[in-house]
Amino acid sequence: MAWVFGYGSLIWRPSFAYASARSARVRGWRRRFWQGSPDHRGTPHAPGRVVTLVEDESAQCWGVAFDIDGQDSQEIFDALDLRESGGYVRLTVPIEFADASSAVALTYYAPPENDNFLGPAPISKIAKQVRESSGDSGDNVEYVLRLADALGRAGIRDDDVEALAHAVQHFVDNP
Ligand code: SIN
Repeated sequence: MAWVFGYGSLIWRPSFAYASARSARVRGWRRRFWQGSPDHRGTPHAPGRVVTLVEDESAQCWGVAFDIDGQDSQEIFDALDLRESGGYVRLTVPIEFADASSAVALTYYAPPENDNFLGPAPISKIAKQVRESSGDSGDNVEYVLRLADALGRAGIRDDDVEALAHAVQHFVDNP
């Protein structure tokens, strides 16, 4: 089987055909809003904030693995290379499903040395940046709220995403 692991927008908008989707985790990585988006959720001058995987030995990141067996994987990867072109690169990772079975998956992550990497910031600053950013794929606010919603639907708990979604929702409710 061939798997694509998504932990951000791929969860709610994979944009490719797949045979099945299952919750899965990668160990040693944490989901962080540390990547700048100069295209999808921001502009080069006012980048939005999107998620990447950041190495952290003590962490794990739950996401959704898509089984693309039987699909044209080259076509899928070519389309994803274009979509994730703002600093993301392909990474092959071991993934583990809820029943403890495992597989190898392809994922996209934005390494710290890429030009659009923003790194850590206080949650209030990240929330403000999210509120003010918008790009070709829509508002940055929508990205955060959809991610929180998609994780909730998949039964995945991520305190960082929930806290940011809460802070962003506060801005939306109190313009
Ligand atoms: C992903 O969804 O797995 C990659 C990050 C993103 O496009 O949001």
